[in-house]
Amino acid sequence: MRNELRRAQVRFYDLRRHDDGIRGELEEACRRVVASGRFILGQEVEAFEHEFAAYCGVRHCIGVGNGLDALHLVLRGLGIGTGDEVVVPAQTFIATWLAVSYAGATPVPVDVDPRTANMAPELVEAAITRRTRAVMPVHLFGNPADMHAISPIARRRNLAVIEDAAQAHGAIYHGKRAGSLGDAAAFSFYPSKNLGAFGDAGAVVCDDSKLAERVKTLRNYGSTSKYYHELPGYNSRLDELQAAVLRVKLRHLDVWNRRRNEIADLYTGGISKLGDSVKAPEHDEHVSSSWHLYVVRAAQRDGLQNHLGKRGIETAIHYPRIPAEQSAYGNYRSTISHCPNAVQYARSSISLPMGPYLENWEVTAALDAIRQYAG
Ligand SMILES: Cc1ncc(COP(=O)(O)O)c(C=O)c1O
Repeated sequence: MRNELRRAQVRFYDLRRHDDGIRGELEEACRRVVASGRFILGQEVEAFEHEFAAYCGVRHCIGVGNGLDALHLVLRGLGIGTGDEVVVPAQTFIATWLAVSYAGATPVPVDVDPRTANMAPELVEAAITRRTRAVMPVHLFGNPADMHAISPIARRRNLAVIEDAAQAHGAIYHGKRAGSLGDAAAFSFYPSKNLGAFGDAGAVVCDDSKLAERVKTLRNYGSTSKYYHELPGYNSRLDELQAAVLRVKLRHLDVWNRRRNEIADLYTGGISKLGDSVKAPEHDEHVSSSWHLYVVRAAQRDGLQNHLGKRGIETAIHYPRIPAEQSAYGNYRSTISHCPNAVQYARSSISLPMGPYLENWEVTAALDAIRQYAG
């Protein structure tokens, strides 16, 4: 496989190509920070927080060290901890679950919708106990979870709704942006995300001023004025260089997302003609995905991946094992059988090359190779 990947004509993701068109703007932003001599919690972070809150349609944004910390600090900010439970989807990147564990609470998995791999709303109620404090849907691959079905269940039980929007920058659900659909949301700006930094970075967004203040305090050693510490906090701050880079990229995000959408349409148009051996991703109505990933399902997934690899099309698997199958969550073995859709998704899904810089010939090359396989 390794040699084949080296020969790939269409890479799965290529960050250099992604940033090529705006290299000058990015370098200028970095120079500005170096010249300022200020690297932690300065004007760039403050400006980015303003701009990203406005972009998401919420009142507050707090820049933090990464997406996992963003989730963790929301939970801490809401006072969720030991003895509490948080309902999470059975299939997601493990960070969703780890954030709950970091807080000292227990992740309680619910199975996913077999079409979208997002939390199945009809299973949420049964997962709620008297210890439950929050429901944490993930907008997996950029496709918003069914918040209109999930939120009323949480409201009735007085539970917080926390969006894991790590993959959903700019995604829209019923006319509202991801990040404005619950009580609070967490974003990751990992370099390969739709809005990516030059290293680790993340943010919490919310409307609640008290929660915003708490998260702001928690990210900076639990301190609001230097060397006075109200809370046992953390060191998880977005830095000035990352904020400056993110400010540049935020200006381009909608154009990039539109191009991702065009690419997704091309893929879906081609794949939907192929019968059942390869299935295009499905979405609910009134949803516009950010298309962080374009994930198809194939009964013979490994065969398809091999076939594409030999033809120079690099792919990836998101994610081959659900969190309950990971050694890190060995104590969750008994829950695996309650999540058949999540397991099935993990075994059958394969992510095709996706990025706003992709040219149509590359999408066509991937489609041709899939067509050959589907035969
Ligand atoms: C769904 C999901 N949640 C949380 C995270 C954690 O983000 P980070 O890697 O920035 O900590 C990621 C990103 O990798 C993610 O994909």
